Amino acid sequence: MNNSRAQLAEKILSLKKERNAVILAHNYQLGEVQDIADFVGDSLELSQNAARTSADAIVFCGVHFMAETASILCPDKIVLLPVMEAGCPMANMIRAEDLRKMKKEHPGAVVVCYVNTTAEVKAESDICCTSANAVRLVQRLEAREIIFVPDQYLGHYVSTKTGKKMILWPGYCPTHVRIQAEDIHRLRKMYPRAEVMVHPECRPEVVAIADFVLSTGGMIRHAKSSQAAEIIVGTEIGMIYRLRKENPDKVFIPISEQAVCPNMKMITLENILWSMEDMSPQVKVAENIRLKAKKAVDRMIEVG
Ligand code: 13P
Ligand code: SF4
Repeated sequence: MNNSRAQLAEKILSLKKERNAVILAHNYQLGEVQDIADFVGDSLELSQNAARTSADAIVFCGVHFMAETASILCPDKIVLLPVMEAGCPMANMIRAEDLRKMKKEHPGAVVVCYVNTTAEVKAESDICCTSANAVRLVQRLEAREIIFVPDQYLGHYVSTKTGKKMILWPGYCPTHVRIQAEDIHRLRKMYPRAEVMVHPECRPEVVAIADFVLSTGGMIRHAKSSQAAEIIVGTEIGMIYRLRKENPDKVFIPISEQAVCPNMKMITLENILWSMEDMSPQVKVAENIRLKAKKAVDRMIEVG
């Protein structure tokens, strides 16, 4: 880190103390953002952390639905999202009214929403899940019909793993669809002894040929315990930073350099500092929505 970046990081850390704030960062954040965070993790780990923090303010280095989830869990805390425009395109592919219509068409169906949804969609759902607990959670459901929104690929994966028929919404992650099965075939020829781990947001033909299908937190744990010296990684490119940092003796090969989530990259050291200086922009979920959404999010945390 050069001098000016180090000074910026120092300013953030001292203001963080003054504000009694905690900095939570997703695994896809820029390396220098991960480095100043109190905790780096996947969506589930970040929600669990937000739920148990004693800080007065949470600085969320991630995308809008993550900050909203923290606000749902911690209504008395200030939740800062340094760039309000940092959204998740997949979360914006379904609106609450779309889900209401779907529910009318399938009365009695249990609604499972991926955490990558707006608070309004969560408020219309029975249970929320993340990529880390989706299979476990759906496995336990005894429902005759299950609606799963908005990620058709995660939904498809969960359905094949659990054997349960699910009604899917045609949403997808524009970053993960860039990861192609041909890229895996090509890399396997170059690295014949490598393991392949991919995120369940990838296309079914990619998931079908991977050795491991894991959340970003699952990838971190797997990389540490694996005996493989080379691991081919199918998810957003930001993951590579932490994998390499924590496993300097292993080689990590991204499947696609084009799997970049531009929204995740909007958060910088500069705008983290400015947001803590101004205590803005804040994400706050309206109480009527929050109370409904919390029931679904609490079940997500309970399942763990
Ligand atoms: P994880 O919960 O696995 O970190 O995934 C979040 C996400 O947005 C993946 O694109
Ligand atoms: Fe949303 Fe995809 Fe970005 Fe994850 S990587 S935040 S699913 S757009």
